Amino acid sequence: MRATAAKKQPAGLPGADANAHKKNLLIEALSYIGRFEDKIVVIKYGGAVMVREEVKRSFSQDVVLLRSLGMRPVIVHGGGPEVSKAMHEMGHEPRFVEGLRVTTAEGLRITEMVLSGTINKDITARLNTAGGSGVGLSGKDAGLIMARKMDSLNGVDLGFVGEITHINPSILNLLLENGYIPVISPLGMGEDGTTYNINADTAASRIAGALAAEKLIFMTDVEGVLRAGKLVSAMSVDEAGRLISEGVIDGGMIPKVEAILHGLAHGVASAAIICGNDHHAIIAELFTDKGIGTIFTA
Ligand SMILES: Nc1ncnc2c1ncn2[C@@H]1O[C@H](COP(=O)(O)OP(=O)(O)OP(=O)(O)O)[C@@H](O)[C@H]1O
Ligand SMILES: [Mg+2]
Repeated sequence: MRATAAKKQPAGLPGADANAHKKNLLIEALSYIGRFEDKIVVIKYGGAVMVREEVKRSFSQDVVLLRSLGMRPVIVHGGGPEVSKAMHEMGHEPRFVEGLRVTTAEGLRITEMVLSGTINKDITARLNTAGGSGVGLSGKDAGLIMARKMDSLNGVDLGFVGEITHINPSILNLLLENGYIPVISPLGMGEDGTTYNINADTAASRIAGALAAEKLIFMTDVEGVLRAGKLVSAMSVDEAGRLISEGVIDGGMIPKVEAILHGLAHGVASAAIICGNDHHAIIAELFTDKGIGTIFTA
C-alpha cells in the first residue's frame, strides 16, 4: 500500500523550498530503492508506447538503472501496432475479438517475425547500448511459455492463439542470477512444438506469478484505467471486476486488468498500469509515494 499522496508542488518555488523539495524527493526515492533490492519487477512494455525515439531511450535507461540499483527487471513486450502494420503491408487484415487477436498460419508467421525478430532485438540492443546486458528470448526458448490452442471465444476460432498451460522460469532465474535482463517476446509453444501467439499482458502476468515478482508494471499509451475520462489512481480487485462487467474497461484494457487480477491472486505482490509515454515513468512509479497511473490492491 502506498503512503498518503505527496502534495503537488507549485511552480516557481523559492530557492530554499525548492532545495528542501529536492531533498525530500531523494529521501523518498532512497527508501524505495532499499526496499526493492534483489526484487523481481516484471514490466510489460506495450506495443502502443514503442513509437517515439526519446521514449524508447528513456525506457532503456530506466530499466538499466533498476538493474544497477540491484533490482531484477524482466521485460515482456507487446507489439500490436507493428504486427498490424506488417500484416497490412503483406495484405492481411488483422482481426480482434474482445481485445484478442485472431491469428491465421500466415498471420502467426508475420507475428513471430515482427515480435521475435524486429521488436525483441530492438529492445535488447537498446538496453545494451544503455549499459545493460539484455538477452532477448521468446516464450519458446527453454520451454519458458508452454501453451495449448485457446478455445473459441463467442463462437470465433482464434486460430493460432495460445492459452498458457505453464511457465518454466528456470532460464529466467539463470539469467537474473547472472546480471542479465531478460527480454521476452510473447510466443508460446505446445507440447507438439506448435507455435502460439500469446497475449503479452497474460504472458507478463503468468511470468510474474511464476517468479513471485514484487511488482508487475504495465506500460501502455493511456495514464492508467480511465473512468469517464478521469484516471482511477487506485483500484481494488472487486472494483476492477465490476468495471469490466459494466463495460467501462474495454478493448485492450480487458486482458491487461484480467492479467493483473490473475497475477495478484498467484503470488505477485503489487501491480500497476502506467503511461509509458511519460519520460522515466517506471522510476516515478517505483520510487515515489504517490506513483503514477493506476495501482491495484488485493
Ligand atoms: N477504461 C479504460 N481506461 C483506459 N484505457 C482503456 C479503457 N477501456 C479501453 N481502453 C483502451 O485500452 C488501450 C490500451 O490497450 P492496448 O492493447 O491498445 O495497448 P498495449 O497493451 O499497451 O499495447 P499492445 O497490445 O500492442 O502490447 C487504451 O489505449 C484504450 O484505448
Ligand atoms: Mg494490448
